[in-house]
Amino acid sequence: MKQLTENQLMDNWNKLLQLIKDTFEDGSERREKLLKMYHDLEERMIVAPASGKEEYHYCYVGGYVNHVLHVCETALEVSKTYEKVGGHKDWTDEELIFSAMHHDLGKVGDLVGEYYIPQDNDWRRKTLGEVFTHNTDIQNMRVTDRALFLLQHYGVSVSLKETLAIKLSDGLYDEANPYYLKVFDAKRSLKNHLPYIIHWADHMATQAEFDEWKRGDDDNKEEMESKLENIKNISVGKTETKQEHTDEVLENKHKDLFDELFGDKS
Ligand SMILES: [Fe+2]
Repeated sequence: MKQLTENQLMDNWNKLLQLIKDTFEDGSERREKLLKMYHDLEERMIVAPASGKEEYHYCYVGGYVNHVLHVCETALEVSKTYEKVGGHKDWTDEELIFSAMHHDLGKVGDLVGEYYIPQDNDWRRKTLGEVFTHNTDIQNMRVTDRALFLLQHYGVSVSLKETLAIKLSDGLYDEANPYYLKVFDAKRSLKNHLPYIIHWADHMATQAEFDEWKRGDDDNKEEMESKLENIKNISVGKTETKQEHTDEVLENKHKDLFDELFGDKS
């Protein structure tokens, strides 16, 4: 598992705080309330991972902040590309950064406790690569719903555009989202495109993070590749090796991967 040094953890944290200061107007209520929220959640947020399984995205201490910075950066690029290819930019950079910055806020947990806790089952750690597991002591909620709850708890105003961008950041990988995204009636389609930009940015950043994990650091590249190969070949509780069964297992694993990357399966 990748390990960030204390300096790297603090560098990323300071970059995130600086991004808030650069994005939101000095002295504005939104900036002050955001800084209060970040101050309260600081200890937990600095060390939170972005996912729970080793082969998923940024599954390591400090992965959450790293992922958020990555999605903010990617969202700015996707936004520029969208305009460049003829799209109409109907959002501001502040709305873009705000939505990207908080799309996964629910992964930090709630007022009671953290969302990801270390997996203490040795077999699951070693065999399934589960480094972290979900904390069942906190209320079971979708990550995006918890994000919106936390923002309202701290009195941070969230526009309708930003609400939908956070809510729909997992796109169609979230079972709750077809209601908004598969409407088959132009009159009911989204009134602006920020939710698409945030979803594309999150999807792209996440895939790139997976590629980064596969490549591994130079000194443990072989170890990473062998772990990935082992994980691909796992079929829990089954010993059959028939082709059709293997396909089914792999298909389910593929679905699990997407659920973990973009969903909130508890
Ligand atoms: Fe994300």
